[in-house]
Amino acid sequence: HRRLRVALLGAGSVGSQVAHLLLTQAAELAERSGADLELAGIAVRDVDAPRDVDLPRELLTTDAEGLIVGSDIVIELMGGIEPARAHILTALNSGADVVTGNKALLATHGAEIFDAADQVGASVSYEAAVAGAIPIVRPLKDSLAGDRVVRIMGIVNGTTNYILDRMDKEGADFADVLAQAQALGYAEADPTADVEAYDAAQKAAILASLAFHTSVPLEAVHREGITSIDKAMIDGARAAGYVIKLLAVCERLPADGDQGEDGEEISVRVYPALVGRDHPLASVHGANNAVFVEAEAAGALMFYGAGAGGIQTASAVLGDVVSAARRHIAGGVGVGESPRMSVPVAPIGRITTRY
Ligand code: NDP
Ligand code: HSE
Repeated sequence: HRRLRVALLGAGSVGSQVAHLLLTQAAELAERSGADLELAGIAVRDVDAPRDVDLPRELLTTDAEGLIVGSDIVIELMGGIEPARAHILTALNSGADVVTGNKALLATHGAEIFDAADQVGASVSYEAAVAGAIPIVRPLKDSLAGDRVVRIMGIVNGTTNYILDRMDKEGADFADVLAQAQALGYAEADPTADVEAYDAAQKAAILASLAFHTSVPLEAVHREGITSIDKAMIDGARAAGYVIKLLAVCERLPADGDQGEDGEEISVRVYPALVGRDHPLASVHGANNAVFVEAEAAGALMFYGAGAGGIQTASAVLGDVVSAARRHIAGGVGVGESPRMSVPVAPIGRITTRY
């Protein structure tokens, strides 16, 4: 087997589990990828901070840039914009393939990152950035590339689903159950991103960009969080036969006579919605997510599973690492896969918050 040097940036909820799997499942990962994945180091802020899993002390470093240079695959699981953005650009410019779960970064600086990857022929994979363990990025990018997706609807944030579910089932207090979601590793470093639906909006922008082969800016996503949802609203919804869920909806809109050049409009929005108790989305409990995709030829498809959580998300990250390793040893990146988040072959005329 060829040896590939892997640098991991971040050892929090997700990164610590990725490190653990790379170290404990090295033989299987080598068989599946065709390469020995050597974990060269793990960049953190504080090498003495407590970790979810025991990691070899000698692998931890605060020198992320030093770790990146000379690596074949760089896994970014720090979160946030900087220094994650700068590290990813360093990695790409030094010829490494990048795997990330950072939707905040991709939804705001995706174009810069994918351009940098294109210029050097490297890849950026991000299955973990949307809906945790659920394979949804690659199905949209690859499996459905021959179809015309018309609508995506679902629950794409685990923390808010966990909160709303516990409030509905047990009458739990918002602040208490948010603290539990944080302790379980579901929430973002700043949980405002979850409860104010910035995280869901970032994921919706990524999903819509993939599904509609365009580039949806975050500002075009209509966003409402769940901080105004109280016990009385949840009880009222239940009494009327509904449950409140934070939904993300991305859809092509029917023509209204005022469209862009190619006569199409899309709407992307996240908001708390009343969902009938007999609807499949009402049965999405805890930190699970579910994404419905409607495509013209395929019809309705449903993707369901863990939307957050360290070990669950590590599965999606490792899948991307194995793919990146296969590409690497196949003689370079870009083999059979477009690294871009969106290929604007059919630009949408206008993006709207109309719905
Ligand atoms: P955490 O906050 O738990 O971990 C972040 C890690 O990055 C920590 O180890 C931290 O170091 C390190 N880090 C942060 N900033 C720096 C810095 N400036 N320099 C060096 N190291 C740094 O995050 P998560 O593991 O929860 O999330 C990581 C990424 O994955 C995020 O982009 C998130 O959105 C995404 N994601 C998370 C999911 C989840 O369920 N948690 C699911 C899907 C995606 P230290 O430990 O020393 O503080
Ligand atoms: N904080 C995010 C969530 C992590 O709760 O869904 C997964 O992207």
